[in-house]
Amino acid sequence: MNHSIEYPVIVFLGPPGSGKGTLAQKLAQHLSFLHLSTGDLLRTYAKKDTLEAQELREVLKEGKLASFELFSKILVQRLKEADCQSGVILDGFPRTLEQCSFLDQLVADPLKMMFINVSLPFEVILKRLMGRRQCSQCSQVYHIDFSPPSSENTCDDCFSPLYIREDDRQEVILNRLNVFKNTSSPILEFYKNRPFWIDFSSAESPQKCFELLVDKIAEIAPEEWTHHLLTCSKETL
Ligand code: AP5
Ligand code: MG
Repeated sequence: MNHSIEYPVIVFLGPPGSGKGTLAQKLAQHLSFLHLSTGDLLRTYAKKDTLEAQELREVLKEGKLASFELFSKILVQRLKEADCQSGVILDGFPRTLEQCSFLDQLVADPLKMMFINVSLPFEVILKRLMGRRQCSQCSQVYHIDFSPPSSENTCDDCFSPLYIREDDRQEVILNRLNVFKNTSSPILEFYKNRPFWIDFSSAESPQKCFELLVDKIAEIAPEEWTHHLLTCSKETL
């Protein structure tokens, strides 16, 4: 395969519900990168009226991983689009060693990749996922206690109705956490010597977490990325 990605890529790793999407979305706005949630990408694909989409719906509902064949096809298509070209934040990929090798084929230069490894105790994760609401249109994420919308069940950004994800039922959450437990150690081992790596606890409030993360990124950001950070004023945090 051609090494096709020339733009910078930030990779969020971490368990379900650790706040990857919340942080990635704010960071993407801040840096003018694209936030690419592979979960959102697959949920959108699963709405199609095809047998393949129907099978994917079942996989997502149970909290299992989509097949590599289908997943890689959808991802490669998306990464070619014009809105990716200034940089992409990957949220939810890679999740297996096979996907790690695939990412390395896509992005040949390790200096173009930054990894943010988010962590949170599992009991906090449960509370966060049980209260999550998501916009049915723009995928904006809320929490009924920690980041509620201004008007109940309505998205602040696009005014569409909010919904509860099918995989946010307690038994599916436990299944997803199990999948994560069984797959995450080899991934950390695979990436452990990469030049730009941040271990990050998301135990603070969403805003505080974001500010702490931006500071950490600024400390280690590759030189050619710093203009993105410098052009963002603190008021946008
Ligand atoms: P995906 O959508 O990626 O789900 P996930 O990894 O399980 O992660 P979540 O989206 O549940 O959590 P998050 O870390 O983004 O947390 P969030 O910011 O929302 O994947 C779903 C499914 O798609 C997978 O199970 C699989 O089937 C499939 N899939 C995806 N990628 C795949 C791949 N690469 N290969 C194969 N299959 C794949 O936060 C959670 C809640 O906490 C929210 O309510 C939020 O408001 C709240 N919150 C966030 N931060 C804070 C904070 N600091 N304080 C208080 N509350 C907070
Ligand atoms: Mg998410």
